[in-house]
Amino acid sequence: MTLPLKVPDLRLGVNIDHVATIRNARGGGHPDTLRAAHLAVEAGADGITAHLREDRRHISDDDIARLKHELTRPLNLEMAATQEMLDIALRHVPNACCLVPERREERTTEGGLDVAAGGDRLGRIIGDLKAAGIRVSLFIEPDRRTIEASIQAGADIVELHTGAYCEKALADDANGVADELDRLGRAAALADAAGLEVHAGHGLTFDTVAGVARLPEIVELNIGHFLIGEAIFGGLPSAVRRMRVLMDEARAGAEPSRERVRSA
Ligand code: PXP
Repeated sequence: MTLPLKVPDLRLGVNIDHVATIRNARGGGHPDTLRAAHLAVEAGADGITAHLREDRRHISDDDIARLKHELTRPLNLEMAATQEMLDIALRHVPNACCLVPERREERTTEGGLDVAAGGDRLGRIIGDLKAAGIRVSLFIEPDRRTIEASIQAGADIVELHTGAYCEKALADDANGVADELDRLGRAAALADAAGLEVHAGHGLTFDTVAGVARLPEIVELNIGHFLIGEAIFGGLPSAVRRMRVLMDEARAGAEPSRERVRSA
């Protein structure tokens, strides 16, 4: 029997870290992260993502408190898997926490989490977050071993790192782009078939979003730096609306997953 298969909708999480980067360049409260979050939601964001880094280089504790209190859409808190961040997450109870690797000297989150190396400590943090009703996502490289470790660790969601794909696109390396999309597609199908929710993000732009939006198992994209950069030229609402259109157009052409067909 052929079951009617539908490609799920694709959500957009707007990462507002770099609104805070600009604010912090001068201190004070401008530009305001909450105002940016409201504008992004009005323009079509389904949720807001913010990364509270150990060194507080952009998002502050106060940003998280205000976002959690005032936002009308889900808040996805990105954080390192540390006791300090766990305590903060348990205080604010965001809709989801995305656990990311963090190195103080990096400019941005350069790679995925080494889930297998996280051991019992990572498992305990995931367990504590879930016990508080917070959905737990792990930001990982798109590979089988890490997906299996994520299942083992008890994650609800994996967010696949799209940085390598975007770098190949920036370098105009068509074969590299095809290889990376293939890797992302296989990882997404594997994670989805295992019952994980699949997200993706990092480095996505107007030019690269469609390739990922066509992967039918991916249900959420988290996009930040490019949107905030574009906002300088045309405004945040316009940048978010354009991203939404590109995502939705690509999604409309997506084929249902073969893994889903097989597992249906
Ligand atoms: N997803 C995760 C887990 C991230 O850490 C980040 C930011 O580093 C993003 C998505 C968004 O990446 P970008 O700002 O490059 O769009």
